[in-house]
Amino acid sequence: MPVSRESSEERVGVLLVGLGALSSTLIAGIEAIQQGTAEPIGSLTQLYRCNGDSNDQALKDVLPMARLSNLEFAAWDIFSDTAYESATKAAVLDPTVLEGVRSRLEELRPFKAVVDSNSVRRLKGQHVKAGSLLEQSQELEAEIQAFKEARDLDRMVLVLANSTEITHERGEEAQSRAKFEAALRAGSEKVTASMIYAYVAIKLGVPVVNCTPSHCLELPAITEFANEMGVPLCGKDLKTGQTLMKTILAPGIKARYLGLSGWYSTNILGNRDGEVLDDPESVKTKVNSKLSVLDSILEPTRHPELYGNFYHKVKIDYYPPRGDNKEAWDNVDIFGWMGYPMQIKVNFLCRDSILAAPLVLDLVLLTDLANRTGWKGHQDWLGFFFKSPLLEDQTQPVHDLFRQHIVLEDALTRLRKQNTVRLVETKSATA
Ligand SMILES: NC(=O)c1ccc[n+]([C@@H]2O[C@H](COP(=O)([O-])OP(=O)(O)OC[C@H]3O[C@@H](n4cnc5c(N)ncnc54)[C@H](O)[C@@H]3O)[C@@H](O)[C@H]2O)c1
Repeated sequence: MPVSRESSEERVGVLLVGLGALSSTLIAGIEAIQQGTAEPIGSLTQLYRCNGDSNDQALKDVLPMARLSNLEFAAWDIFSDTAYESATKAAVLDPTVLEGVRSRLEELRPFKAVVDSNSVRRLKGQHVKAGSLLEQSQELEAEIQAFKEARDLDRMVLVLANSTEITHERGEEAQSRAKFEAALRAGSEKVTASMIYAYVAIKLGVPVVNCTPSHCLELPAITEFANEMGVPLCGKDLKTGQTLMKTILAPGIKARYLGLSGWYSTNILGNRDGEVLDDPESVKTKVNSKLSVLDSILEPTRHPELYGNFYHKVKIDYYPPRGDNKEAWDNVDIFGWMGYPMQIKVNFLCRDSILAAPLVLDLVLLTDLANRTGWKGHQDWLGFFFKSPLLEDQTQPVHDLFRQHIVLEDALTRLRKQNTVRLVETKSATA
């Protein structure tokens, strides 16, 4: 650990696995905010205001979170494009906007990616590590350590923003750290690249944020290892677009005791994520992640007369002309007084990475704060940000956005208290 700095000056490394649309939009936005040409719209950590005893102060002034100017980025990708080249190809941001942040984006060229044999089948990148899975993991570990030293970092957070992997059936490798390490040494095909990134991060005491629908953080082997190392984890799959709308709308239908007979959701998207999801095995991972939300919000067993028999269908289609500008249609068949049917139609023309980038910023800052506060394992309170929140006790997650927000606010209050105590203790120890 470098010599102690003021908490607000601590330097945090953001290790981006995947330098695609999401990661490049995140970095471009952070740079634009620092230059004063953009506002941090959509970011809770930057815009939330605490009321009560501290009289409406900004959260970022109350909690000792890292400052945007103290974030340093590293990335890994199967393509060698710099963040600028990647952002240009992703076409989320206008060329004129990109020009303004070009030098910051050009500085970031990814390290070669860790790859397994078959988790992402649609992409054939050449910028990949050679050698066995074990050798790749050792190279990754050395790169992270060298990055930390070179940038004089206090802490780091690893963000999984790589392509959606196919879901493998769990085997021996999932059961314990020792079995996972044995599978890694043996080069088992059940060990995916995301698992290796997460494993190496935890080994180095680095928290992991899983923005993707991939399953790596659910393995008991990974969860136990994180607890053993005192490392926080959170995931999975950022709640943007259609699922965000669903978890806003469904609690309202339920609050009014209206019934639901069906919810049909379809999406078109044309970015690289969409291309990967054109593989039926990858799309299965994503669709499962999207399907789970309604049961948890509507509680059919408690309200069988309203929700005992609804039909839920989710479709995702790859349609290149739209790029990152996803379009989602929802047809919601509801019924009211005396069973009379009604329909709600939602047509959300969203920008996926524009919705997702501020969530990644929040997750980096909050997971880092959890880490320095000594919170470990799955961070249930961060469920607000995810489509399929992972819980420490593996129980059913809450999906209702408003209930998730209450849980989050409660945790922020605890973080404030614990960090105030910590600051007082540190000051009196150094006095
Ligand atoms: N963009 C969003 O709004 C959004 C929202 C929710 C979830 N997600 C999830 O986040 C992830 C990233 O989304 P995106 O829109 O940036 O996708 P993207 O396809 O633009 O970027 C993913 C990047 O990961 C890289 N990659 C693939 N395998 C890799 C490996 N083994 N190691 C390192 N890099 C690898 C790809 O080359 C690509 O550049 C996806 O899994 C997506 O499902 C994204």
